[in-house]
Amino acid sequence: MKIRKSTTADIPVMQHIFAEAKAKMRASGNMLQWTDGYPSDDVLKADIQRGFSYVVTEADGKVIATFVLAICDDPTYKIIYDGEWLDDEQPYGTIHRIASREGVHGVMAEVLRWSFGQIANIRVDTHRDNLPMQHLLLKHGFTYCGIIYLLNGDERLAYQKITTQMTKTQEMTPSATNATQHDEQVRRHTQITQLALAMIDYDNGDPKRIQHTTKVHAYAALIGLQEGLDDETLFVLESAALVHDIGIRASENKYGHQNGKLQEQEGPAVARQLLNRLGGYTEAETERICWLVGHHHTYYASDAIDYQILIEADFLVNLYEDHEDSCCRGSLTGQIENTIRSVRKRFFKTTAGTMMLDEMFLKNE
Ligand SMILES: [Fe+2]
Repeated sequence: MKIRKSTTADIPVMQHIFAEAKAKMRASGNMLQWTDGYPSDDVLKADIQRGFSYVVTEADGKVIATFVLAICDDPTYKIIYDGEWLDDEQPYGTIHRIASREGVHGVMAEVLRWSFGQIANIRVDTHRDNLPMQHLLLKHGFTYCGIIYLLNGDERLAYQKITTQMTKTQEMTPSATNATQHDEQVRRHTQITQLALAMIDYDNGDPKRIQHTTKVHAYAALIGLQEGLDDETLFVLESAALVHDIGIRASENKYGHQNGKLQEQEGPAVARQLLNRLGGYTEAETERICWLVGHHHTYYASDAIDYQILIEADFLVNLYEDHEDSCCRGSLTGQIENTIRSVRKRFFKTTAGTMMLDEMFLKNE
Protein backbone atom coordinates (compact mmCIF):
# COMPACT_ATOMS: atom_id res chain seq x y z
CA MET A 1 0.00 0.00 0.00
CA LYS A 2 1.08 3.55 -0.68
CA ILE A 3 -0.21 6.80 0.79
CA ARG A 4 -0.38 10.08 -1.11
CA LYS A 5 -2.18 13.39 -0.80
CA SER A 6 -5.67 13.42 -2.31
CA THR A 7 -6.60 15.67 -5.17
CA THR A 8 -10.03 16.85 -6.25
CA ALA A 9 -9.85 14.24 -9.04
CA ASP A 10 -10.03 11.59 -6.29
CA ILE A 11 -13.34 12.87 -4.90
CA PRO A 12 -15.64 10.53 -6.90
CA VAL A 13 -13.75 7.42 -5.83
CA MET A 14 -13.53 8.75 -2.27
CA GLN A 15 -17.31 9.18 -2.23
CA HIS A 16 -17.69 5.65 -3.56
CA ILE A 17 -15.54 4.39 -0.66
CA PHE A 18 -17.61 6.41 1.85
CA ALA A 19 -20.81 4.94 0.40
CA GLU A 20 -19.48 1.42 0.95
CA ALA A 21 -18.33 2.29 4.46
CA LYS A 22 -21.72 3.80 5.34
CA ALA A 23 -23.52 0.70 4.06
CA LYS A 24 -21.31 -1.42 6.30
CA MET A 25 -22.01 0.86 9.27
CA ARG A 26 -25.77 0.59 8.76
CA ALA A 27 -25.54 -3.19 8.44
CA SER A 28 -23.73 -3.35 11.78
CA GLY A 29 -26.36 -1.24 13.54
CA ASN A 30 -24.51 2.08 13.43
CA MET A 31 -27.40 4.17 12.07
CA LEU A 32 -26.43 7.69 13.11
CA GLN A 33 -22.84 8.25 12.05
CA TRP A 34 -22.13 9.85 8.66
CA THR A 35 -25.75 10.62 7.80
CA ASP A 36 -27.34 13.29 5.59
CA GLY A 37 -24.78 12.95 2.83
CA TYR A 38 -21.79 13.48 5.12
CA PRO A 39 -19.02 13.91 4.16
CA SER A 40 -20.12 16.17 1.32
CA ASP A 41 -17.92 17.04 -1.66
CA ASP A 42 -17.40 20.44 -0.04
CA VAL A 43 -16.05 18.83 3.14
CA LEU A 44 -13.66 16.71 1.05
CA LYS A 45 -12.57 19.73 -1.01
CA ALA A 46 -11.84 21.68 2.18
CA ASP A 47 -9.74 18.77 3.51
CA ILE A 48 -7.80 18.68 0.22
CA GLN A 49 -7.24 22.44 0.20
CA ARG A 50 -5.90 22.36 3.74
CA GLY A 51 -3.50 19.57 2.71
CA PHE A 52 -4.93 17.13 5.24
CA SER A 53 -6.58 14.60 2.94
CA TYR A 54 -4.88 11.38 1.86
CA VAL A 55 -5.66 8.31 -0.20
CA VAL A 56 -4.24 4.83 0.18
CA THR A 57 -3.42 3.12 -3.09
CA GLU A 58 -2.40 -0.31 -4.25
CA ALA A 59 0.80 -0.82 -6.23
CA ASP A 60 -1.10 -0.20 -9.50
CA GLY A 61 -2.40 3.14 -8.21
CA LYS A 62 -5.95 1.97 -7.48
CA VAL A 63 -7.40 3.96 -4.58
CA ILE A 64 -8.52 1.61 -1.81
CA ALA A 65 -8.96 3.92 1.18
CA THR A 66 -8.98 7.51 2.31
CA PHE A 67 -8.42 9.42 5.54
CA VAL A 68 -7.60 12.80 6.97
CA LEU A 69 -4.56 13.46 9.14
CA ALA A 70 -4.86 17.00 10.50
CA ILE A 71 -1.85 18.15 12.49
CA CYS A 72 -3.37 21.10 14.29
CA ASP A 73 -5.50 21.83 17.35
CA ASP A 74 -9.05 20.63 17.02
CA PRO A 75 -11.49 23.01 18.75
CA THR A 76 -13.84 20.14 19.64
CA TYR A 77 -11.04 18.48 21.64
CA LYS A 78 -10.48 21.49 23.89
CA ILE A 79 -12.89 20.18 26.52
CA ILE A 80 -13.19 16.50 27.32
CA TYR A 81 -15.83 15.08 29.64
CA ASP A 82 -15.80 12.02 31.90
CA GLY A 83 -12.06 11.58 31.53
CA GLU A 84 -8.89 13.31 30.39
CA TRP A 85 -6.41 13.25 27.54
CA LEU A 86 -3.19 11.32 28.10
CA ASP A 87 -1.51 14.64 27.37
CA ASP A 88 -3.03 17.98 26.51
CA GLU A 89 0.09 20.05 25.92
CA GLN A 90 2.08 18.51 23.09
CA PRO A 91 1.11 19.04 19.45
CA TYR A 92 -1.11 16.29 18.12
CA GLY A 93 -2.58 14.98 14.91
CA THR A 94 -6.16 13.91 14.44
CA ILE A 95 -7.34 11.16 12.11
CA HIS A 96 -10.79 11.74 10.62
CA ARG A 97 -12.96 10.30 7.89
CA ILE A 98 -11.06 7.03 7.49
CA ALA A 99 -12.77 4.54 5.19
CA SER A 100 -11.67 1.70 2.98
CA ARG A 101 -13.13 -0.32 0.15
CA GLU A 102 -15.15 -3.42 0.93
CA GLY A 103 -12.96 -6.49 1.35
CA VAL A 104 -9.69 -4.57 1.79
CA HIS A 105 -7.79 -5.47 4.96
CA GLY A 106 -4.94 -3.91 6.90
CA VAL A 107 -5.68 -0.28 6.00
CA MET A 108 -5.97 0.91 9.61
CA ALA A 109 -2.61 -0.64 10.51
CA GLU A 110 -0.93 0.97 7.49
CA VAL A 111 -2.56 4.38 8.06
CA LEU A 112 -1.52 4.37 11.72
CA ARG A 113 2.02 3.23 10.92
CA TRP A 114 2.35 6.05 8.40
CA SER A 115 0.62 8.65 10.58
CA PHE A 116 2.78 7.93 13.62
CA GLY A 117 5.72 8.50 11.30
CA GLN A 118 4.37 12.06 10.81
CA ILE A 119 3.54 12.78 14.45
CA ALA A 120 3.92 10.72 17.62
CA ASN A 121 0.75 11.95 19.33
CA ILE A 122 -2.58 11.12 17.72
CA ARG A 123 -6.17 11.65 18.81
CA VAL A 124 -9.22 10.05 17.25
CA ASP A 125 -12.91 10.24 18.01
CA THR A 126 -15.64 7.90 16.95
CA HIS A 127 -19.36 7.35 17.32
CA ARG A 128 -20.62 5.35 20.30
CA ASP A 129 -22.31 2.94 17.86
CA ASN A 130 -19.16 2.38 15.83
CA LEU A 131 -18.03 -0.72 17.70
CA PRO A 132 -15.65 -1.95 14.96
CA MET A 133 -13.73 1.34 15.11
CA GLN A 134 -13.61 1.29 18.93
CA HIS A 135 -12.27 -2.24 18.72
CA LEU A 136 -9.65 -1.31 16.13
CA LEU A 137 -8.45 1.65 18.17
CA LEU A 138 -7.99 -0.45 21.31
CA LYS A 139 -6.33 -3.15 19.25
CA HIS A 140 -3.83 -0.62 17.96
CA GLY A 141 -2.93 0.61 21.42
CA PHE A 142 -5.15 3.69 21.72
CA THR A 143 -6.50 4.58 25.15
CA TYR A 144 -10.10 5.63 25.65
CA CYS A 145 -9.93 9.12 27.19
CA GLY A 146 -13.51 10.39 27.53
CA ILE A 147 -16.29 12.14 25.66
CA ILE A 148 -16.04 15.15 23.35
CA TYR A 149 -18.79 17.07 21.59
CA LEU A 150 -18.68 18.06 17.92
CA LEU A 151 -19.57 21.59 16.88
CA ASN A 152 -23.13 20.45 16.10
CA GLY A 153 -23.44 19.07 19.64
CA ASP A 154 -23.14 15.38 18.77
CA GLU A 155 -21.30 13.22 21.28
CA ARG A 156 -18.18 11.24 20.31
CA LEU A 157 -15.89 8.84 22.18
CA ALA A 158 -12.32 10.14 22.24
CA TYR A 159 -9.09 8.15 22.10
CA GLN A 160 -5.42 9.01 22.16
CA LYS A 161 -2.12 7.25 21.60
CA ILE A 162 1.36 8.65 22.09
CA THR A 163 4.31 6.70 20.80
CA THR A 164 7.85 8.01 21.23
CA GLN A 165 7.21 11.29 23.01
CA MET A 166 6.76 11.13 26.74
CA THR A 167 3.40 11.54 28.42
CA LYS A 168 2.88 14.58 30.62
CA THR A 169 3.41 12.58 33.82
CA GLN A 170 6.72 11.21 32.59
CA GLU A 171 7.79 14.60 31.29
CA MET A 172 7.22 16.26 34.64
CA THR A 173 8.95 13.51 36.60
CA PRO A 174 12.56 14.20 37.64
CA SER A 175 15.11 12.04 35.85
CA ALA A 176 16.06 10.23 39.07
CA THR A 177 12.47 9.06 39.37
CA ASN A 178 12.51 8.02 35.72
CA ALA A 179 15.55 5.86 36.44
CA THR A 180 13.69 4.28 39.37
CA GLN A 181 10.67 3.68 37.15
CA HIS A 182 12.91 2.05 34.58
CA ASP A 183 14.51 -0.18 37.23
CA GLU A 184 11.05 -1.15 38.41
CA GLN A 185 9.99 -2.06 34.87
CA VAL A 186 13.09 -4.21 34.45
CA ARG A 187 12.37 -5.94 37.78
CA ARG A 188 8.82 -6.76 36.70
CA HIS A 189 9.86 -8.06 33.29
CA THR A 190 12.52 -10.25 34.87
CA GLN A 191 10.08 -11.57 37.47
CA ILE A 192 7.47 -12.47 34.85
CA THR A 193 10.03 -14.28 32.69
CA GLN A 194 11.41 -16.21 35.66
CA LEU A 195 7.94 -17.13 36.88
CA ALA A 196 6.87 -18.29 33.40
CA LEU A 197 9.96 -20.51 33.14
CA ALA A 198 9.40 -21.81 36.67
CA MET A 199 5.82 -22.77 35.79
CA ILE A 200 6.96 -24.56 32.63
CA ASP A 201 9.40 -26.46 34.82
CA TYR A 202 6.66 -27.13 37.43
CA ASP A 203 4.40 -28.68 34.77
CA ASN A 204 7.22 -30.34 32.84
CA GLY A 205 6.06 -33.26 30.73
CA ASP A 206 2.51 -31.90 30.62
CA PRO A 207 2.34 -29.80 27.43
CA LYS A 208 -1.41 -29.33 27.69
CA ARG A 209 -1.13 -27.59 31.04
CA ILE A 210 1.86 -25.54 29.92
CA GLN A 211 -0.08 -24.42 26.83
CA HIS A 212 -3.06 -23.51 29.00
CA THR A 213 -0.97 -21.43 31.41
CA THR A 214 0.87 -19.64 28.62
CA LYS A 215 -2.34 -18.75 26.81
CA VAL A 216 -4.15 -17.52 29.92
CA HIS A 217 -1.13 -15.36 30.71
CA ALA A 218 -1.04 -13.95 27.16
CA TYR A 219 -4.76 -13.10 27.12
CA ALA A 220 -4.64 -11.61 30.61
CA ALA A 221 -1.75 -9.35 29.57
CA LEU A 222 -3.48 -8.39 26.31
CA ILE A 223 -6.75 -7.49 28.02
CA GLY A 224 -4.89 -5.74 30.84
CA LEU A 225 -2.97 -3.55 28.40
CA GLN A 226 -6.10 -2.63 26.46
CA GLU A 227 -7.96 -1.81 29.65
CA GLY A 228 -5.16 0.59 30.62
CA LEU A 229 -4.03 -1.16 33.82
CA ASP A 230 -1.21 0.55 35.68
CA ASP A 231 2.14 -1.28 35.67
CA GLU A 232 1.81 -2.71 39.17
CA THR A 233 -1.71 -4.09 38.66
CA LEU A 234 -0.69 -5.56 35.32
CA PHE A 235 2.33 -7.18 36.96
CA VAL A 236 0.24 -8.79 39.69
CA LEU A 237 -2.34 -9.93 37.11
CA GLU A 238 0.29 -11.48 34.85
CA SER A 239 1.92 -13.26 37.79
CA ALA A 240 -1.44 -14.59 38.99
CA ALA A 241 -2.30 -15.77 35.47
CA LEU A 242 0.95 -17.75 35.35
CA VAL A 243 0.26 -19.56 38.63
CA HIS A 244 -3.55 -19.59 38.62
CA ASP A 245 -3.82 -23.38 38.10
CA ILE A 246 -0.89 -24.33 40.31
CA GLY A 247 -3.28 -26.08 42.71
CA ILE A 248 -4.26 -28.75 40.18
CA ARG A 249 -1.31 -31.05 40.74
CA ALA A 250 -1.36 -30.49 44.50
CA SER A 251 -5.05 -31.51 44.54
CA GLU A 252 -4.41 -34.57 42.42
CA ASN A 253 -1.52 -35.65 44.65
CA LYS A 254 -3.52 -35.14 47.83
CA TYR A 255 -7.00 -36.30 46.83
CA GLY A 256 -6.47 -38.29 43.64
CA HIS A 257 -8.62 -35.83 41.72
CA GLN A 258 -9.07 -32.09 41.26
CA ASN A 259 -11.82 -29.57 40.68
CA GLY A 260 -12.25 -25.82 40.85
CA LYS A 261 -12.85 -25.76 44.61
CA LEU A 262 -9.83 -27.96 45.39
CA GLN A 263 -7.65 -25.84 43.08
CA GLU A 264 -8.65 -22.77 45.06
CA GLN A 265 -8.05 -24.57 48.34
CA GLU A 266 -4.65 -26.05 47.51
CA GLY A 267 -3.29 -23.45 45.06
CA PRO A 268 -2.39 -20.46 47.25
CA ALA A 269 0.07 -22.34 49.51
CA VAL A 270 1.93 -23.83 46.52
CA ALA A 271 1.93 -20.47 44.76
CA ARG A 272 3.34 -18.75 47.85
CA GLN A 273 6.08 -21.38 48.09
CA LEU A 274 7.08 -20.86 44.47
CA LEU A 275 7.00 -17.03 44.70
CA ASN A 276 9.09 -17.10 47.87
CA ARG A 277 11.57 -19.48 46.29
CA LEU A 278 11.93 -17.22 43.25
CA GLY A 279 12.18 -14.10 45.42
CA GLY A 280 11.69 -10.53 44.26
CA TYR A 281 7.99 -10.27 45.09
CA THR A 282 6.85 -7.92 47.84
CA GLU A 283 4.63 -9.37 50.56
CA ALA A 284 1.68 -7.33 49.25
CA GLU A 285 2.19 -8.69 45.72
CA THR A 286 2.49 -12.27 46.98
CA GLU A 287 -0.63 -11.82 49.08
CA ARG A 288 -2.65 -10.51 46.15
CA ILE A 289 -1.43 -13.17 43.72
CA CYS A 290 -2.31 -15.93 46.20
CA TRP A 291 -5.74 -14.41 46.79
CA LEU A 292 -6.40 -14.43 43.04
CA VAL A 293 -5.27 -18.06 42.80
CA GLY A 294 -7.57 -18.93 45.70
CA HIS A 295 -10.64 -17.32 44.12
CA HIS A 296 -10.30 -17.78 40.37
CA HIS A 297 -13.18 -20.26 40.19
CA THR A 298 -15.49 -18.36 42.55
CA TYR A 299 -16.37 -15.82 39.82
CA TYR A 300 -18.27 -13.37 42.02
CA ALA A 301 -15.70 -12.85 44.78
CA SER A 302 -14.79 -9.30 43.76
CA ASP A 303 -15.21 -6.66 41.10
CA ALA A 304 -11.52 -5.72 41.11
CA ILE A 305 -10.11 -5.37 37.60
CA ASP A 306 -7.22 -7.88 38.02
CA TYR A 307 -9.67 -10.51 39.26
CA GLN A 308 -12.13 -9.80 36.45
CA ILE A 309 -9.49 -10.02 33.73
CA LEU A 310 -8.02 -13.26 35.12
CA ILE A 311 -11.46 -14.86 34.99
CA GLU A 312 -12.10 -13.64 31.43
CA ALA A 313 -8.68 -14.83 30.21
CA ASP A 314 -9.24 -18.26 31.77
CA PHE A 315 -12.68 -18.48 30.13
CA LEU A 316 -11.27 -17.54 26.71
CA VAL A 317 -8.92 -20.50 26.91
CA ASN A 318 -11.26 -22.94 28.68
CA LEU A 319 -14.11 -22.35 26.25
CA TYR A 320 -11.77 -23.25 23.41
CA GLU A 321 -10.21 -26.24 25.16
CA ASP A 322 -13.60 -27.58 26.28
CA HIS A 323 -15.01 -27.38 22.75
CA GLU A 324 -11.89 -27.67 20.65
CA ASP A 325 -13.38 -30.04 18.07
CA SER A 326 -16.32 -27.72 17.46
CA CYS A 327 -14.31 -24.54 17.30
CA CYS A 328 -13.40 -24.74 13.60
CA ARG A 329 -14.81 -21.78 11.75
CA GLY A 330 -18.55 -21.88 11.56
CA SER A 331 -18.96 -25.29 13.15
CA LEU A 332 -20.10 -24.37 16.66
CA THR A 333 -23.32 -26.17 17.49
CA GLY A 334 -26.24 -24.12 18.71
CA GLN A 335 -25.84 -25.62 22.15
CA ILE A 336 -22.17 -24.62 22.46
CA GLU A 337 -22.89 -21.19 21.08
CA ASN A 338 -25.60 -20.79 23.71
CA THR A 339 -23.13 -21.81 26.41
CA ILE A 340 -20.65 -19.22 25.16
CA ARG A 341 -23.33 -16.51 25.01
CA SER A 342 -24.38 -17.38 28.54
CA VAL A 343 -20.77 -17.16 29.80
CA ARG A 344 -20.44 -13.83 27.99
CA LYS A 345 -23.55 -12.46 29.66
CA ARG A 346 -22.76 -13.71 33.13
CA PHE A 347 -19.00 -13.33 33.43
CA PHE A 348 -17.56 -10.91 30.86
CA LYS A 349 -17.41 -7.26 31.87
CA THR A 350 -14.37 -5.68 30.22
CA THR A 351 -14.65 -4.20 26.74
CA ALA A 352 -11.40 -5.81 25.58
CA GLY A 353 -12.26 -9.27 26.95
CA THR A 354 -15.75 -9.20 25.51
CA MET A 355 -14.48 -8.13 22.11
CA MET A 356 -11.93 -10.93 22.16
CA LEU A 357 -14.61 -13.48 23.04
CA ASP A 358 -16.81 -12.20 20.21
CA GLU A 359 -13.97 -12.23 17.71
CA MET A 360 -12.96 -15.73 18.71
CA PHE A 361 -16.29 -17.53 18.98
CA LEU A 362 -19.24 -15.48 17.84
CA LYS A 363 -18.27 -14.11 14.45
CA ASN A 364 -18.80 -16.36 11.51
CA GLU A 365 -18.23 -14.06 8.59
FE1 LIG B 1 -7.12 -22.08 34.00
